[in-house]
Order: sequence, then C-alpha cells, then structure tokens
Amino acid sequence: MTAKPSILVARRLPDACEARLDADFAPRRLPGDGPHPMPALLAAAEGCSGMLVTLTERLDAATIATLPASLRIIATMSVGFDHIDVGAATARGLAVTNTPGVLTEATADLTLLLILGAARRATEAMALIREDRWGTWSPTGLLGVDLAGRRLGILGLGRIGAAVAKRARAFGLEIHYHNRRRASPEQEQGATYHDTLDRLLAVSDILALTAASTPETRNIIDHAALAKLPPGAILVNSARGDLVDDDAVIEALRTGRLFAAGLDVFRGEPALDPRYRRLPNVFALPHIGSATVETRTAMGMCAIDNLDAVLKRGTAPITPVT
Ligand code: DGY
Repeated sequence: MTAKPSILVARRLPDACEARLDADFAPRRLPGDGPHPMPALLAAAEGCSGMLVTLTERLDAATIATLPASLRIIATMSVGFDHIDVGAATARGLAVTNTPGVLTEATADLTLLLILGAARRATEAMALIREDRWGTWSPTGLLGVDLAGRRLGILGLGRIGAAVAKRARAFGLEIHYHNRRRASPEQEQGATYHDTLDRLLAVSDILALTAASTPETRNIIDHAALAKLPPGAILVNSARGDLVDDDAVIEALRTGRLFAAGLDVFRGEPALDPRYRRLPNVFALPHIGSATVETRTAMGMCAIDNLDAVLKRGTAPITPVT
C-alpha cells in the first residue's frame, strides 16, 4: 500500500471534510482553528506534498520561496486567490487551485441581504430592538428606499454577479453591469452592458461589487468613482475590501452622498476601519458570504478533490487558478 500524501491543513474544516482528509491523506494540523502564524505553518508543512489553505493564509512571493521542496500543490478553500502570489507559485512548479462555482448561490444570497439591509436601514432598526429603544410605530420612522424600479449596477458579472442579478430581478431591480469584456447573452439575461465603469456608475442607484481583487480593481471605488454615482446611491461589497477606498466611502456615507452601504468584506479584515462601526447607515457583516453548512462543506470538498487529483490520482488539478 502506498503511503498517504501528507497535507498541511491550515484551518479547521467542516466535519465531513475533516473526516475525508483523515481517511485519504495524512493531514497535519496545528492545535485549534487558527489562523496560525505563518512560521508555525511552514514548520508543520515540512515534508508535505500539499497545503490546504484559506484566504487567511497570505502566501506572498517571499513566503512561497520558503515553502518545502516536497510541496506540489496549494489548494485554497476560497474562490478568491488574491492572498496567493500565483506567479511565484507557478514559477516554482506548484499547482494552485481554488473553489469556483460551489459558493455562487450562498454568496449571491448574502449580497441580496446586504442590499436589503442597507436599503431598509437594518442596522438602525435592529439597534432599536436590541437596545430597547423602540418608542412607537411611526409614519416617518426609519424610512428606507424601495428596490423595485431602481437600477442595480453590478461590477463584475461573473458567476456570482449573474446569480445576484437573477435574484435582484425578482425584486424588480433593473440590471446593469460592467466587465472588461461583454458577457454572453446567457450570462447577461437581458442586463444592460456598459463598456466603461463611468457609464455603469452613472446609472447605479445601487452598486454591487462582485469583481475579484486584482491590481486593476484595487481601490477602484474611490472619491472620483463615488462622485459619479447618482446622489443617495447604495454601495454593496461582497467581493473584497480592497476594491474600495475606505476614506472615500466613509466620507460619502457621512455626507449622505451615499444613502447607505452593505459590506461583508473589509480591507485588513478582521481589523476593519473602526469608523464603519459607528456609522448608522452601514450594514456590516463579518465576511460570511459563503458561510453555510452546505457551501463550506462543498468548498472544502472541492479543495480536497484537487489534492486528490494531483497527489493521489496523478492527474491535472480540477479547478486550477490560471
Ligand atoms: C472566497 O471564497 O473567496 C470568499 O471570499 C470566502 O468564501
């Protein structure tokens, strides 16, 4: 019998995934869930042929240079891979895989929650209940804005963006989007394409960010971009925190240039800019877009499928990052 491949498992996974790792691999884990300091992970990875990481493990070029020579694959349990220097990994001959597809529906659901929470002033409303400050029903109390008839601008009509659009149509939103390249008619489903970001901004009563974090998209929503939105627009971000310039967004929320924001992701999370916590018109969640039992299990299984393909079956990775 051939030895089971040794895998460094950086975080605790859903039970079914942990059980599969134990059955099919020789997993190495540090105590507790983590995140663990990188030197401890690197020490534990010595002699491993695979690493199963998440977005909390930052594998920059310097770290990749110190990975053990035995390593053949880095499987991240996330669709985003901005925490990995893929160029550096590829140059070392390492396969890098992510988990596309399996978290589309959960993340789209969560994006609608952000839109609704921001539009209907959920933060202020919940505070009245939790702090026992609800005085009376009021004809003018906590007035939000209707979704029906408004225009939803989606920056990044990929899998998740298209799933957001599908849900948003049911709320009566008109769908607009911007991608570098126009999406297929199947993906568009009648959405209006804007060939520049500026054109999308001009029509976005609600702007949803569903694009990956890349050198081109980092800080893409800055002062200038926010100034091009219709006054009183809503900003929603379920992608990555570094797509927005926090100073610009916070100023726009304070002045009312933005009616509200729904944010699931933050630059430097979990250490988000503390000003967000104090703004009543921010509906904020702690990066839970894919956090359902079914989806996190599917993400873990997808990462393990890739480890299995490369390390046990000797085939190409199933969902390689390119
Ligand atoms: C991802 O997968 O990149 C999400 O941000 C977390 O599920």
